[in-house]
Amino acid sequence: MDSHLSDAVPTKYMNALSEIKSRFKRVLDQMVDDSSSLLEMIRPAQDSKFGDYQANCAMPMKGMLGEPPRKIAEQIVAKLEIDDLCHSVEIAGPGFINLKLDDSWLKQRLTEALPDPRLGVPLVDTPGTYVIDFSSPNVAKPMHVGHIRSTLIGDGLSKTLRFVGHRVITDNHLGDWGTQFGMIIYGYKHLVNPQAYAEKPVQELGRLYKQVRQIIDFHAASQQRPTLLERIAKQRAELEELDSGEPVDDKKKRKEIGRRKAKIAEQQEQANELEAKMATVQSDTDLLKLAEQHTDIATEVLTETAKLHAGDQENLALWNEFLPYCREDIRRIYDRLGIEFDHELGESFYHDQLEGVVESLAEKGLSRESEGATCVFMEQYDTPMIIRKKDGAFLYATTDLATIQHRATTWQPSAMLYVVDHRQHQHFEKLFDAAKLWGYDDVEMTHVSFGTVLGDDGKPFKTRSGDTVGLEGLLDEAVHRAGQLATELNPEGNAAELQEVAQVVGIGGLKYADLSQNRSSDYKFSYDKMLALKGNTATYLQYSFARVQGILRKGNIDIEAMRNDPVAFCFENDVERELGVSLIRFGETLDEVLIDYKLNLLANYLFELAQTFSGFFENCPVLKNEDEDLKQSRLQLCDLTARTIQTGLSLLGIDVVEKM
Ligand code: ARG
Repeated sequence: MDSHLSDAVPTKYMNALSEIKSRFKRVLDQMVDDSSSLLEMIRPAQDSKFGDYQANCAMPMKGMLGEPPRKIAEQIVAKLEIDDLCHSVEIAGPGFINLKLDDSWLKQRLTEALPDPRLGVPLVDTPGTYVIDFSSPNVAKPMHVGHIRSTLIGDGLSKTLRFVGHRVITDNHLGDWGTQFGMIIYGYKHLVNPQAYAEKPVQELGRLYKQVRQIIDFHAASQQRPTLLERIAKQRAELEELDSGEPVDDKKKRKEIGRRKAKIAEQQEQANELEAKMATVQSDTDLLKLAEQHTDIATEVLTETAKLHAGDQENLALWNEFLPYCREDIRRIYDRLGIEFDHELGESFYHDQLEGVVESLAEKGLSRESEGATCVFMEQYDTPMIIRKKDGAFLYATTDLATIQHRATTWQPSAMLYVVDHRQHQHFEKLFDAAKLWGYDDVEMTHVSFGTVLGDDGKPFKTRSGDTVGLEGLLDEAVHRAGQLATELNPEGNAAELQEVAQVVGIGGLKYADLSQNRSSDYKFSYDKMLALKGNTATYLQYSFARVQGILRKGNIDIEAMRNDPVAFCFENDVERELGVSLIRFGETLDEVLIDYKLNLLANYLFELAQTFSGFFENCPVLKNEDEDLKQSRLQLCDLTARTIQTGLSLLGIDVVEKM
């Protein structure tokens, strides 16, 4: 290996993985045309037995160079200038390259990180501008569990992007112009309790929304259910003909029977849901009476909405009156979650731009009329994107096109992220393609999609009565349970302190339970799991943080002095080095997170760090140390661990407490 370094390497704020990659790049670029996919094969080692990092790029190079991978690995290693960074580079098996960081390099990084509020994490070389569309609830109805993922993932990504140096603009694209306003306007005109509205407008509007929804659902269900039951009966009869109950030998037939049974079961479930909606109204005499009086409610609601959109004075005045109440209602939740937005430009903001959007697309020859509607046809899709309906109404997609135009001209972003659930996948695919045709082709547009929150039964999380679970109640319950935990941990604690712990642990636990999941998957909601003291939970991480604070308090440590005048880090025990390696990986973890916008990678990292710390703590006495230098080195590791956990959690929007 050539130990001489040709280029001077900046020593400050390096990230081991990207530094290793850049050393490999110099070599690989001499051997292949495009090294980018090969560089991705350099990763943290699966098992620390094999070193700290592992490069598996020699294997696929076999195809490119026609030589055995082991030989290719030897060539790479011979040319690699990495002595200052890694003290051992070994080739294993068919051609894996195992790298072990040099201890003095590692200690240097830790020493730099110690006094640094950013913990030595480098800023990105080329900052981008990110517009992040997240939370974006339809207001006028209470926020429910379905809103939590977008809100938390969007907030976490904003914070992480900002931390590494990007410019971030957050925008809560409120649904403040849709049918739900037609519903409360109708409700207000026909069903309001004036006194209740005068006293508690937010609650009364919420009640009206719910009541109108119930009556609409009742009528729809009463209409749909008989047809559905008939269909099920018919399918049952057909199935009976096919399936006599005797064992069936024919595989194909068996499969067909299974398929039909599943279909019937699914429809039966739907019928049950419809029945539940009917029962809600039927079991309440007053509500039933109202339902009988308001048989045309669904059409009327649409009429009220259309009137609002057409600028009807009365409805517009009501909308203006209601909107602040609706905002107040969601603001309360955001305050509890500690979420802020730079902008809250809801759908209504774009209303008078929609006409222009449709004209512009037509002028560019991108849209045409089809059956009276204005559509954008794109060859890669079977169905067009409709931007104006036959009756002249604009659609969700039209508003989103106007939003893209506004964001692009106002902020000139390099990327627009949409944190919205996976069911809107098709909408965004089409939207992005249409926007590109329209001229917005030099900005990254990404649908950061996510799965569903499930209940214990593996179905979308609902209350016993089948309603969506309100977000407010969810937060209350999490804080309540965390309060019980806080008291168990610290029975003598004073009330104010315990209350603070309950808040931080309850809200933090709820956030972490969500963010530690791969966002693409569904996950099961469980209060017990999310507040567990052991396991991959915020509680465990918060506890690790508090534990270090306890040590620093007990040792009466002058923290500032320690950070600014550190002793050389000392790796007496293997686990100290292991902890050191884990600590310097914070920055590279954030890089990984931002490749696919996956915050669970940050959560996993923090969990592993905390576990490594726990191993360190069991094996390495800190305060009870004769050797002052060793004691301080260990305190430095403790402090770095606590601050990495604290900073990492803060990027997930989660706080810590000094004592638990
Ligand atoms: N309000 C929409 C909903 O609740 C989500 C909006 C997402 N953002 C957007 N620009 N389309 O489904």
